[in-house]
Amino acid sequence: MTMQIQDYRSPKVTVIGAGNVGGMLAQRIAKQNLADVVLCDIVQGKPQGIALDLAQAHTISNLDRQIIGTNDYSDTQDSDVIVITAGLPRKEGMSRNDLLRINAGIVKDVVQKAIALSPSAILLIVSNPLDVMTYLAWQISGLPPQRVVGMAGVLDAARFQTFIAMELGISTADIYTTVLGGHGDLMLPLPRLSTVNGVPITELMSQETISRLVERTRNGGAEIVKLLQNGSAYFAPSAAAYVMVEAIISDRHRIFPAAAHLTGEYGLKDIFMGVPVQLGRQGVEKVIELQLLDEEIASLHASAASIQENINLLYSNESFA
Ligand code: LAC
Repeated sequence: MTMQIQDYRSPKVTVIGAGNVGGMLAQRIAKQNLADVVLCDIVQGKPQGIALDLAQAHTISNLDRQIIGTNDYSDTQDSDVIVITAGLPRKEGMSRNDLLRINAGIVKDVVQKAIALSPSAILLIVSNPLDVMTYLAWQISGLPPQRVVGMAGVLDAARFQTFIAMELGISTADIYTTVLGGHGDLMLPLPRLSTVNGVPITELMSQETISRLVERTRNGGAEIVKLLQNGSAYFAPSAAAYVMVEAIISDRHRIFPAAAHLTGEYGLKDIFMGVPVQLGRQGVEKVIELQLLDEEIASLHASAASIQENINLLYSNESFA
């Protein structure tokens, strides 16, 4: 029997930005045998050095996915997914919005270069401030909005999940959490829709405890920035980006909170913000509209207003007009 294999091509994921998040994401993708990986960065030698180190690490583990480190975008050609992690991370005392202008310049440049060579790719944005960078990447790329998505809800929901598990002394595996809104101080963890094996946490913990965990989730990134003193989180952000890449490459139709284009859902439009989406090979297959209470909608709108303010600020700068 002969197999028809001539059309088969390994999936290809490009990770732009060889910082901690980019490097760890490349490692996870290759380790799980999901796709060949191209790690691309502007710094000479850095992506090449990381790729070589990773290739040698994987040799020890009997893994053989191709990992290329490069400064040359031609190596990224025909990628299935492009993940943008490029940009500066936060330093202590900085908000994600402080990164706005500098990271906007970087994201604009790398998206233009990458999409020119992979016009069919799905674009996953990780750079901060997340929701604004996702909007900018969509505008710059000219892609249909379904093919542009931002990673943050998976990370924020995991933080909430972790804190609930720590508080109750139970496995994270039995906890499901929902976090909506922007990846910033106004994000909206939803205790009412967060459960332990189907039981809402509002029945398991006092309001006071829940408020403390919600607040800790909102400050989850800043807490780590403060502890590290030099840099921001990368294990959890790369793990979160990985599950999204995997859902896309493997066409799993998984449901995640993620920054997606809104066209009237939740009363919002012409914005990218964290909402539950169904993710598969075509990108965002569906935006899921949850039934929210009036006060939840009001909080969501406050988060959206803050994102919109930053979009306006960015586009008032003539280089982005
Ligand atoms: C965080 C950064 C990556 O939340 O936004 O840790």
